Amino acid sequence: MTENSKFTADNKAAWNASATYHQATLNIDDIVAKLRDHDHGVFDETFGATLDAIGVRGKKAVQVGCNNGREALSLAKMGATSVLGIDQSDAFLAQAEMLKNAASLECQFLCSDIYNLPSDIDADFDVGVITIGVLNWMPDLKLFFQAVAGLLTTGATLAIYETHPVLEMFDPDAADPFTPKHSYFAKTPYASEEPITYDGSSPGKAPVSWWFSHTMGDIVTAAIQAGLRLERLTEYPHSNREVDFDIYEDRDAQVPMCFEMVLTKP
Ligand SMILES: C[S@@+](CC[C@H](N)C(=O)[O-])C[C@H]1O[C@@H](n2cnc3c(N)ncnc32)[C@H](O)[C@@H]1O
Repeated sequence: MTENSKFTADNKAAWNASATYHQATLNIDDIVAKLRDHDHGVFDETFGATLDAIGVRGKKAVQVGCNNGREALSLAKMGATSVLGIDQSDAFLAQAEMLKNAASLECQFLCSDIYNLPSDIDADFDVGVITIGVLNWMPDLKLFFQAVAGLLTTGATLAIYETHPVLEMFDPDAADPFTPKHSYFAKTPYASEEPITYDGSSPGKAPVSWWFSHTMGDIVTAAIQAGLRLERLTEYPHSNREVDFDIYEDRDAQVPMCFEMVLTKP
């Protein structure tokens, strides 16, 4: 086993273990209502507008790191002809199947490590989507973007809506949450034995998970080196993270909180 596959195997166990906590707070009715009533399903205004500009209707879409499938199902709601959600956590994909049935939308889910996709997987997706909280689980960005680019057809668009790497320097739970806690250039993976929850709770010990810091330069360079062409990189002052990060919004000395990258496969 390589070091990278050890990291991803650990992360799979950690995400599977965390699925129980998420199941307890999963509000199926709320997600189903958004999928039914909102034009962009669960996507916010910013990313919804980006997906509108790209055009999802009538396209074949893939989401990498789809978790409980709420966003893959939103792509189906937006009119994609077929959607594939890929995630290595079977426990979260079980929740995705539940949501899919509750929402009565069409979507396929594939349980796979992105670094080890099945050799017969389709490679003709028109739109690829990656959102909040995926890139930092990836030990090797270069191989990650190669795998993602390999799923796309010529002329396809990849849309990324992620946490800004500068925000990763701050810890909202620190005694002084406004003093950077982590180096922007940290290279050592961060190991945690806390369950992966989104509500700030720490209910006991969990299997170890590994979190990787990547600079904006690392991200852009890895995507370009995978053969993708950068069309747009936009940094935003608003949060697309857990509520504890709201303290970094609306400040005079504003840090970037999230970013969008739109890339095409020439
Ligand atoms: C924070 S969640 C994504 C949440 C999603 N953006 C949303 O808002 O619904 C990150 C997901 O990445 C998945 N993941 C982590 N490493 C992976 C890998 N190597 N291959 C496939 N999926 C992976 C995890 O299982 C997890 O479900």
